[in-house]
Order: sequence, then structure tokens, then C-alpha cells
Amino acid sequence: FSAFLTDNFGRRHSYLRISLTEKCNLRCECWTEPLASSALHVMGSNAWDPLSGQYCMPEEGVKLTPHGQLLTAEEVLTLARLFVSEGVQKIRLTGGEPLIRPDVLDIIAELRKLEGLKTIAVTTNGMNLARMLPGLKQAGLDLLNVSLDSLVPARFEFIVRRKGFHKVMEGIDRAVEMGYNPVKVNCVVMRGLNEDELLDFVALTEKKPVEVRFIEYMPFDGNKWNFKKMVSYQEMLDQIRQQWPDLEPVPGEEADTAKTFKVPGFQGQVGFITSMSDHFCGSCNRLRITADGNLKVCLFGNAEVSLRDRLRSGATEEELLHIIGAAVSRKKKQHAGMFSISQMKNRPMILIAGGALRG
Ligand code: GTP
Ligand code: 5AD
Ligand code: SF4
Repeated sequence: FSAFLTDNFGRRHSYLRISLTEKCNLRCECWTEPLASSALHVMGSNAWDPLSGQYCMPEEGVKLTPHGQLLTAEEVLTLARLFVSEGVQKIRLTGGEPLIRPDVLDIIAELRKLEGLKTIAVTTNGMNLARMLPGLKQAGLDLLNVSLDSLVPARFEFIVRRKGFHKVMEGIDRAVEMGYNPVKVNCVVMRGLNEDELLDFVALTEKKPVEVRFIEYMPFDGNKWNFKKMVSYQEMLDQIRQQWPDLEPVPGEEADTAKTFKVPGFQGQVGFITSMSDHFCGSCNRLRITADGNLKVCLFGNAEVSLRDRLRSGATEEELLHIIGAAVSRKKKQHAGMFSISQMKNRPMILIAGGALRG
């Protein structure tokens, strides 16, 4: 395995997340006015306080990078080729919302040609999924993760400020029909927002071969993370076990972000992404490239190095590899702990190769 992609703790980075865009077709803005009574009706009486901010984009929005400074498809592919030649086996396309990038299918089809690349994955908000699935499948997409924080249509639409709950569900169902197994459904659990839906999400796995993954709410710049809004893995597990005491662990890969379980007899699975209460940095195999071409070696790190600038100034592969290797060797052993990272200035989630984030 490439020395350039191995860090000082022996972690081999074989999973690259590439953000294709900073834009998103959803608008999960915070509510800056006192909640209207209609909203209280949807959210329940313990709704988040007004002004509490929302979870993936800072209240004031994000400043989008001018188009010319974003990676072109060709640049994405040049970098992908380089990383794959050094041992990357899995590439996940994220955003913003990756499926709104006009050339996403071409990018996937070109990635498919890379020998050595085993898995091509996408994390999407699912809005365009149903209609794009045939093209995605044909281009060679292997894995699909869909973000969905509520199963109550009115609540979903309140959070994302757009209509579309049924489109997302249709996307998930179509993906299952097309043989994506499991389709992963990412649910960020936030107290007062959706923690009353855990059992409904688990119930979704009874008849559908989906893997619902409950994600501990993480702090990013401007999202006003607060310890009280975070629902821990242990608390989620306790709640679910009250209903399904025989929920059983399913063995996974060491580098998985999720701890996986299953209710016996159910078709799907249930995972927990415990970034806060039990981080999984020891087995981290992930690197990220932001849409503007920065390499980010840790989700919670500020250190970024521009690969785009080096590409555009004509750096050779060897030079690029040295820059990448130097960044990887500076990767910290683990993130600084939930209270420290909540104080840190870190890119808002929508600007990290995070995923389909409610822009
Ligand atoms: P799979 O490849 O299907 O396991 O997906 P994934 O978990 O790698 O990616 P996805 O885009 O579905 O992300 C799900 C959640 O995991 C998001 O909330 C991410 O922010 C979180 N996550 C992904 N990678 C990392 C990471 O390297 N560190 C931490 N702390 N969290 C991560
Ligand atoms: N904490 C945890 N997960 C988050 N995501 C977005 N913002 C946060 C946050 N603050 C999730 C999205 C998506 C995944 C890539 O990251 O819901 O599914
Ligand atoms: Fe890897 Fe950083 Fe995430 Fe830890 S916080 S798992 S080191 S990316």
C-alpha cells in the first residue's frame, strides 16, 4: 500500500470522499422567528427554540466558491486516478447534493473505468434519485446512501423547507427494486427534532432491505451544536431495546463508520454512527476532497491543502503525491473530543465532502 496514503499511525487511506458541488436543492434553514403554531403542531411542543440554528449550514448561509474555482470533471478524474493508483479502492461522491451536478453521470462512468477502484458510492438527499436511478445504475454506481431525518412528511418538509418527502421515499424504494442492497438511510438524530421517531425508523427495516443509520449530531461551524441536542448512541440503543430487546449486533468491517445491528426476522439493519460518544478514528481510512479542490485529511481538522492550485500550476504526479503524503502524515490520531471540536472553527458540513447536506 502506498506510503503517501499511510499516516504515522499506520492507517491506510483507501476510501476517498469527493465533494462535487457546494450547492444543494434543499434549504434546511433554521427558523429565525418564533415558531408558528403550524410548525409547533408538526414539531411537537418540545421543538427546538427559535434561533437555535440548523445542523448543516450556518445560520447566515455559506458563501459559495466561484464556479471557476471548483474542480472540473477532468480535474476530479485526474485526482481520482492518482489516488486509485496509490491504493484507494472506494470513492464516495458527496456535496452539497452531488446529484445536482450536471456531469455527475459522466464522472461516475469515467470512474468506473479505473482499474483498482472497487466501489463507487454516492450520498444524496434523494430528491432527484428516482428519476436518476437508471442513469446511475448504468454509469456503474455501486452504493447509495440517502439522508432522511424524518418519516413524517410535514416534519420533513418543515426541516428541509421544500416539498419532496414522497420523492425521497420513492427514490429509496426504487433503489431497493433496482437491487441496491442495502440502501443506507442516514438519519441525524437531534433532541427535540426527531428523536421521537427512532422506533418508526427501525420499523422501516422490517419489510425493506435498508440499513437505517442513526447519526449522532456533530458540531460544525455555525450549526450551534449543543450537547443537549445530541442524542447519544447509548440512549438510542436503550430506547430501541425497550421495543426490540433481541436487537442483535451484526459484525462489520473494521473501518466502518457504523456499528450495525438487526432485529431478528427483519429484512434490513440498523446502524449507529457514534462520532461523538465513541469515535472510530483508530480505524479511519477516509480522506476528503472538497468541491474547491482541497484535500482534508480529517473531518474535524482545519488543515487543508489545495490540490486544485497544484494541478492548475502544472504539478507532476510525483509532486502531487508528495503534497498529499505530507498532509496525510500530519493527520492527527483522533479528533479532539466533542467539546473541543464544538469550539473549533471548522468548515460547515455543506462545504466538507460530507454528503447530501441540506444546503
Ligand atoms: P458507508 O461507506 O456506506 O459506510 O458510508 P459512510 O458512513 O462512510 O458515509 P456517509 O456519507 O453515509 O456518512 C454518514 C455519516 O458518517 C455522516 O454523518 C458523516 O459525517 C459521518 N462520517 C463519515 N465519514 C466520517 C469520518 O471520517 N469521521 C467521522 N467522525 N464521521 C464520519
Ligand atoms: N452531524 C452529523 N451528521 C450530519 N450530517 C449533516 N450534518 C450533520 C451533523 N451536524 C449528515 C447528513 C448526511 C451525512 C453525510 O452527514 O445527514 O447523511
Ligand atoms: Fe477520521 Fe478525523 Fe473522522 Fe476521526 S474524526 S474518523 S480521524 S476523519
